[in-house]
Amino acid sequence: MAKWKISQGMPILNKEMEDAVLDALRNDKYVNGENVTKLEEEFARYIGTEHAIAVSSGTNALAFIFMAAGIKGRKCTTSPQSFIASANSILHAGGTPVFADIDKDTYCISTAEVEKQLNNGASAVLPVDIFGYPADFDSINEIAGRKNAYVIEDACQAHGAIYKGKRAGSLALAAAFSFYPSKNMTVLGDGGMVTTDDDGIANKVRKLRDAGRKSHYEHDMIGYTARLNTVNAAIGRVQLRNLDKWNAKRTGIAAEYGSRLKNVNGIKLPQLGSNGIKPVFHQYVICTKDRDRLKEHLEKNGIQCGIHYPIPIHLQPIYREMFKHKEGEYPTSESFSRECLSLPMHINLTKDDAKLICEQIEGFYGS
Ligand SMILES: Cc1ncc(COP(=O)(O)O)c(C=O)c1O
Repeated sequence: MAKWKISQGMPILNKEMEDAVLDALRNDKYVNGENVTKLEEEFARYIGTEHAIAVSSGTNALAFIFMAAGIKGRKCTTSPQSFIASANSILHAGGTPVFADIDKDTYCISTAEVEKQLNNGASAVLPVDIFGYPADFDSINEIAGRKNAYVIEDACQAHGAIYKGKRAGSLALAAAFSFYPSKNMTVLGDGGMVTTDDDGIANKVRKLRDAGRKSHYEHDMIGYTARLNTVNAAIGRVQLRNLDKWNAKRTGIAAEYGSRLKNVNGIKLPQLGSNGIKPVFHQYVICTKDRDRLKEHLEKNGIQCGIHYPIPIHLQPIYREMFKHKEGEYPTSESFSRECLSLPMHINLTKDDAKLICEQIEGFYGS
């Protein structure tokens, strides 16, 4: 287990979560328990939406939103620089993902590229709040509105992020979260959440996750078994109570990295936020032409790093096969994939850890 002196990520499990699990197992219903309803209420209040509907994963959260909003036979534009599930969810719901390249500074989808895809016939947009940095929803919502397209937010990496006074997850028609163990807030297993103010989408998603039930033995929709387990919801409730404190810790580590690394020539640092934008640093991603050698150097010195993501979605083997995508179509995403390096980012990182990581990077560049 202790292969690394400093690991890249680290999910949190504490006594309060263990107690909540045992209490849920002994006293709550295994499926559709009170912990699920409570987590939904608490999450909706936190995000600032009318509804929060717990589901079995972030992928299903996105797919159910698209099934409810309607994408079958239509195109939705999204970022090629994301986890593959962003685009897969559009296919799961019968739509076709078409990509729009990313902005070179925020790494979120570029508004100008979105506009091109809307002009090419896309009828929906799925911006991704990548690494916990909210996409530019004001301009994307405005352009989509003019073209009669709807916008769905992939907030799977952005629990707690703020965009101009509003939480990520409340910036579009509906949003999806993932509670996978690497996330800022997890249920220590698979899980997800849909947030929306739209009653119609909320009601359809509630049915889709639960076998299309109208009542217990009456089904008026072809649904799935894709609920969040009660035990996982119990963990999620404890995590949610700690989220702001944990995000503040991440932001502090990002500031520490930023202040030490800003003078190192050869690396580009991520944005710390501005104009009312507060990212939550799901990952702290630097870019460098020496990515592979720097990664090797850090790992030789016991510092684990990640690459998010080494292959943009359009160049994944299945997307090449299905859509005949080729290198060169989305140059900003492609060069990002070659240069990105995720430094350690978790709430157990100490100032000394951050100092050691920065010293190793400075040493590598001889600065
Ligand atoms: C941006 C993004 N979208 C979608 C997902 C899918 O979530 P899950 O893994 O819970 O299905 C993830 C999570 O890994 C993600 O990071």
